[in-house]
Amino acid sequence: MWRMGDKKPVNDDLATRGRENAARTTLSGETRAVTPTVSIDGLACSIGGRAVLENVRLTVDHGESVALVGPSGSGKSTLLMCVLGMIKPRAGRVVVNGIDVVRLRRRALARYRRENIGIVFQFGELLPELTPMENVALAALLAGVGRRPAYRRSRELLGELGVPATGTPTAHLSGGERQRAAVARALVTEPSVLLADEPTGALDHANRDAVAEMLFALPRRRGCALLVVTHDEAVAGRADRRVALRDGVIVSAPEGPEGPEGPGERGRAREPGEPRECEEWARRSG
Ligand SMILES: Nc1ncnc2c1ncn2[C@@H]1O[C@H](COP(=O)(O)OP(=O)(O)O)[C@@H](O)[C@H]1O
Ligand SMILES: [Mg+2]
Repeated sequence: MWRMGDKKPVNDDLATRGRENAARTTLSGETRAVTPTVSIDGLACSIGGRAVLENVRLTVDHGESVALVGPSGSGKSTLLMCVLGMIKPRAGRVVVNGIDVVRLRRRALARYRRENIGIVFQFGELLPELTPMENVALAALLAGVGRRPAYRRSRELLGELGVPATGTPTAHLSGGERQRAAVARALVTEPSVLLADEPTGALDHANRDAVAEMLFALPRRRGCALLVVTHDEAVAGRADRRVALRDGVIVSAPEGPEGPEGPGERGRAREPGEPRECEEWARRSG
């Protein structure tokens, strides 16, 4: 397992090769077409009869980080929820590791999340009375990892990320430590896709920089795909690629002179025949 100070990333090979096209040579010397870990195409989503995402196309490859930026209400969190399978889009495809997420039903969806996705939220969403170790191990135990390996992995991860594992309830940690614990919790199931929704939004600058540095090192070190929603240009600037959403549509530039200035989709009325709204999958049960 890697340590934060390691020189050579384990998945350097995956991380540094061409992403969009051509082929990749695997460690065994085989040549394979590059398939993105996350592939979103033609994604459209409406909530309450209002278009929230329109024709979104986005890929995130193994070992790659993508920052998703855009003003508040532009659909960033909704896009993450579509990758997670919490929201059913009205059109388009979300394919993760070859799995067609939109078609999955309850149990398969829970399994898909457990086996493929780790997620970090703005406020960590950890259980405050439990120690960081218990929070992280709990995620592993719920995912079916045995007790001993769950605790071993949790201790290792927290050590790597510089968080005290035991002896302190999570509530007593600093904001930066809590977010690092939240990242450890997301990683304990070894997901191939890591999603983060404003992971540094509640931190001061020093903690923001420390958490962002650790987060953006993960794709190269672990070969996972990282999709980070952020308002913060200092955070977005660390990603391999930056994708800007505006009124639910991907634009080439986020805001300012290069961005399209025309009226957005927000607040527009539903067209006749347009599906009413997307179905919220209130299925955190997994
Ligand atoms: N559950 C919901 N009910 C009604 N409207 C929602 C809901 N979730 C999101 N929206 C609306 O969808 C739009 C996009 O929201 P969101 O994806 O949260 O934006 P962002 O994360 O970019 O701030 C916003 O206009 C928001 O008000
Ligand atoms: Mg949001």
